Amino acid sequence: MVCNLGFTAMNMSCLHKVFFLSQFLLSIVSVSCLIETLKQNLGGDPSLFPSNFLFGTASSSYQFEGAFLNDGKGLNNWDVFSHEPGNIRDGSTGDIAVDHYHRYLEGHQYLLNNAYTGLGQPRIEYFCHLPCTALQPLNLLQIFPLFFILFGYFKKACDVFGWSSMRQEGIDLMVSLGVNSYRFSISWARILPEGRFGEVNAAGIDYYNKLIDALVLKGLEPFVTLTHFDIPQELEDTFGGWLSPKLQEEFRYYADICFKTFGDRVKYWVTFNEPNIQVTAGYRSGSYPPSRCSSSYGNCTYGDSEKEPFVAAHNIILSYATVVDIYRRQYQGNLKEKQGGSIGIVLHAKWIEPFSNSTADKLAADRAQSFFMNWFLDPIIFGRYPEEMNTILGSILPEFSCNDRKKLNKALDFIGINHYTSLYAQDCIFSLCEPGKGASRTEGFCRQTPEKDGVSIGESTALAWLHVYPQGMEKMVTYVKERYSGIPMFITENGYVDENDPNSTIEEFLYDVKRVEYMAAYLDALSTAVRKGADVRGYFAWSLLDNFEWTYGYTKRFGLHHVDYGTLKRTPKLSATWYKLFIARYSLVKTLIVKEQ
Ligand code: BGC
Repeated sequence: MVCNLGFTAMNMSCLHKVFFLSQFLLSIVSVSCLIETLKQNLGGDPSLFPSNFLFGTASSSYQFEGAFLNDGKGLNNWDVFSHEPGNIRDGSTGDIAVDHYHRYLEGHQYLLNNAYTGLGQPRIEYFCHLPCTALQPLNLLQIFPLFFILFGYFKKACDVFGWSSMRQEGIDLMVSLGVNSYRFSISWARILPEGRFGEVNAAGIDYYNKLIDALVLKGLEPFVTLTHFDIPQELEDTFGGWLSPKLQEEFRYYADICFKTFGDRVKYWVTFNEPNIQVTAGYRSGSYPPSRCSSSYGNCTYGDSEKEPFVAAHNIILSYATVVDIYRRQYQGNLKEKQGGSIGIVLHAKWIEPFSNSTADKLAADRAQSFFMNWFLDPIIFGRYPEEMNTILGSILPEFSCNDRKKLNKALDFIGINHYTSLYAQDCIFSLCEPGKGASRTEGFCRQTPEKDGVSIGESTALAWLHVYPQGMEKMVTYVKERYSGIPMFITENGYVDENDPNSTIEEFLYDVKRVEYMAAYLDALSTAVRKGADVRGYFAWSLLDNFEWTYGYTKRFGLHHVDYGTLKRTPKLSATWYKLFIARYSLVKTLIVKEQ
């Protein structure tokens, strides 16, 4: 019988096989079209990026790990917050998230442990995966796209005929992308479930040791964030979180453990991820834990939106300074430790266009940067808050002592920029201005809006705050270069969001042309900034996988890989293939340049 191809044991339906074979023939024709699409959309000139440029993907512990109560981890602020009804749109939590805690290694382990059956016979799955594993280090698949696509069919055949039981999970997916780095964060409550006065959780240390070792083994540079919005709940309950200066000592103690334990292999440390989002969402709008705000800013039981964000920010800045100080003195260049890494901070960085050509709106655009990003960068680099903040906020803004200032002077080796989008800013000091985001005194009297004369600054996406405006990337990087001259930068996050529409098919999620276009255009703009002299040393796509998008739960998708939230199966999207080709083109050009020299 036509359909009896000898795979009955594989439990395949006849129809499925016929469908696969016809699909294979048909798609040979479409392969060339796909290559063309990818070429046209490749965007940017990767050769413009410096050698040793880090290309990676980014993640964070709460959004990826899951295992919220496994192996001695304590509860953190997001565990508690997400369990309170009404806080997360789809009622979900990060209890399991994308289960990175259990799955980051799986593919390799499967291959190693299961290459042979109990009878000593090689397993057919092993042959399905052998070419992939053997050829990846040679980068052949990336260099010859046609070969890569044909190989894709070989793998697809393995999938369709049921031989692909090896799952590609975490590090395998990164290796397959060809990236050379991975940005992740450590869960503070996994290391110190009860903060400074409790025990260090050995299982947590073990987990990150294994993750870091596995990354290093595969040639992936670990780019590690100490806290990405999460703190042990114990610290929230005992001290009131970042409102207390006592958190400085807590953070110092935690960071010291991390430097001591992982610093021999981790050469890039991010102290805080987006403290500007953390304090505005946590203490102004109250939309993130600890949900504190005044009634005119949100729906909270306690808080003061006009004071607390500045107190929390001040404590974060001082905690930052303390930690950088110990890293520099005890680890970075210390003779005994000689870790020699670098340390910095990551800010959420929106580009702000003036609403009009008026001087007032131009000043408003500057103020908007000062009240958001420079609020943290100015103290760390210049030892003081931005002038506009002092003028408008007066005594609301806490002061730095002489000692603080000494510690703060140029207290960083790099600036991490999370750039996704741009807005307009309109002056509300000299002009009448509708109420709205940014218009209040605490936000600097600069109303921010994505629209001008009914026209949006860029194509809208599944998130109201994210509009596509690639030129914002070049402008943002150039602004940081000019204001903080000479400090190296990393684009620590950049990415495109899709709605997790329950009516969409998996194919629709996988064919993420909009994400490809977004990344191509933003990388193009970034390469222009680099060509004009910006010292940018890396780019991390947000994100490796679809994941828990904070208060939006699983209703949004940012991943280069689709995650089926029922099975947690990961599948590369078109954007993963595109990123792989982009990086391959960069690697090839760099290899040729080195050979020529
Ligand atoms: C955060 C990520 C978040 C992403 C998309 C950044 O602000 O660092 O955790 O998922 O933006 O919203």
